[in-house]
Amino acid sequence: MTIEERLEKLFQMRQQARLGGGEKRIEKMHQAGKLTARERLEILLDEGSFEEFDMFKEHRCNDFGMDKKKILGDGVVTGHGTIDGRLVFVFAQDFTVFGGSLSETYAEKIVKIMDMAAKNGAPVIGLNDSGGARIQEGIESLAGYADIFLRNVLYSGVIPQLSAIMGPCAGGAVYSPALTDFTVMVQNTSYMFLTGPKVVKAVTKEDVSVEELGGAMVHNRKSGVAHFAAQNDEEALLLLRKLLSYIPQNNMETPPVVPTNDPIDRADEELNFIVPEDPNRPYDMKKVIAHVVDNGEFFEVHRYWAPNIIVGFARLNGHSVGIVANQPNYLAGGLDSNASIKAARFVRFCDAFNIPLITFEDVPGFWPGTAQEHTGIIRNGAKLLYAFAEATVPKITVITRKAYGGAYCVMSSKHIRGDMNYAWPTAEIAVMGPEGAVEIIFSKEIKEAKDPAAKKRELVENYKEKFANPYVAAKRGYVDDVIEPSKTRFRLIRALEMLQNKRDTLPMKKHGNIPL
Ligand code: HXC
Repeated sequence: MTIEERLEKLFQMRQQARLGGGEKRIEKMHQAGKLTARERLEILLDEGSFEEFDMFKEHRCNDFGMDKKKILGDGVVTGHGTIDGRLVFVFAQDFTVFGGSLSETYAEKIVKIMDMAAKNGAPVIGLNDSGGARIQEGIESLAGYADIFLRNVLYSGVIPQLSAIMGPCAGGAVYSPALTDFTVMVQNTSYMFLTGPKVVKAVTKEDVSVEELGGAMVHNRKSGVAHFAAQNDEEALLLLRKLLSYIPQNNMETPPVVPTNDPIDRADEELNFIVPEDPNRPYDMKKVIAHVVDNGEFFEVHRYWAPNIIVGFARLNGHSVGIVANQPNYLAGGLDSNASIKAARFVRFCDAFNIPLITFEDVPGFWPGTAQEHTGIIRNGAKLLYAFAEATVPKITVITRKAYGGAYCVMSSKHIRGDMNYAWPTAEIAVMGPEGAVEIIFSKEIKEAKDPAAKKRELVENYKEKFANPYVAAKRGYVDDVIEPSKTRFRLIRALEMLQNKRDTLPMKKHGNIPL
């Protein structure tokens, strides 16, 4: 073969590999409102940055006529590229090739880029669109999944791992995305479930559609499996780019700094009046966050699940922070099982990747009742307590209003290694709310009073004066300062500067035993 012929062959093979399962199947993808694996990578990565590996890899299955069906690349496009100039490793499952199903060789391709990502300290992003284990291969494909799962676990907390679900993701295949740090799902075209509608019908007699069983909003609203919902492929991919901008390349680095023109000492008078005078009236904690962070930009995670707690990323003076905040607008900001789990996982992510934590606290306590007790609010609430206590990144808390009971301890209090704990003058820090407290400790006095209602009012007022303020805690140093709400931004930035070289450790151990 002449050199020209060799070059021509390479060109032809590349062209063939790029077509995946062929033009008809690509057309079908487009008709379904989906982009192809390669089109997705073009949006995800910086222009021209993609370097592909294993483009010529083929499966080795000879059963069921598969020896006659070999497609270059074998259904997954893998390699590396950059996002905003930063290295990332990627795999994009190609539904046009055997429904994106996973074979032994396909898994080897994914494993290769995961190992390279870990070696080079760069995030790995998986674009999932697959019919699951390649049925013709059987055990080899199951082994391939397990090889991927192992790496998801080994590299957890070492490099960020992100998943987009952009088509089917069923059976045990769901466990790889579930082990990654963040999952975005595309509405109407993606779904995740362990067992599909037919099996559900056979086993439980329940009639359920794919969408109702495992559509994007089910996993965003109900199960908490997904962290983000996107309206289409493009939105999902742009969301992943943005998410990466807040997080470092690996656990040995800090997140990128994005210079801001938002003044660090920007005072915000509106914050002084944001907490209503009536302690039982709700307000929107997202407004508090927006008033404080750089240019009001807050990148919310898990927006639809457990909205009684808010988690997400923002920047203060250009530095990434993870925000955890009770939301008085929903369930009065009370902590239930889902809220505790949601926040605990976010806290652990931030801690693993050197992202300081800012907590805005307005919590009337853990949510009472049989529903919560029976679903393990004790076990689940303990997760959040564990996560905050264990975290060694800078931790700054602002108590805006209520900090009651166990929830006071849990929400990054001084006692569990909060570095700086501030309170607004509207803060109420006590064992429980005034109404409940006087009912318990003065029940006899109230019953025996001539006018029980008036007596109760008087006792509640006394209690409020004594306990429902920030000064009892401030006198003991449990809060470091009572601050003017309008100056919160400045005080947080100052505290972060002071804490930038913070070093803290945990006792030597193999690993702790977080109550799962
Ligand atoms: C081999 C598969 C396949 C699979 C789909 N295809 N899934 N080939 N193994 N798992 C092929 C189809 O034969 C078809 O080939 C092409 O992909 C497109 O599939 P269609 O069915 O035509 O597409 P659509 O109607 O969009 O339906 C998509 C689907 C369906 C819902 C994903 O294909 C499906 O139900 N597949 C099986 C899903 C499944 O049960 N997987 C195993 C799960 S258990 P042609 O040549 O006709 O285009 C599992 C265990 C993992 O994954 C365990 C890990 C621990």
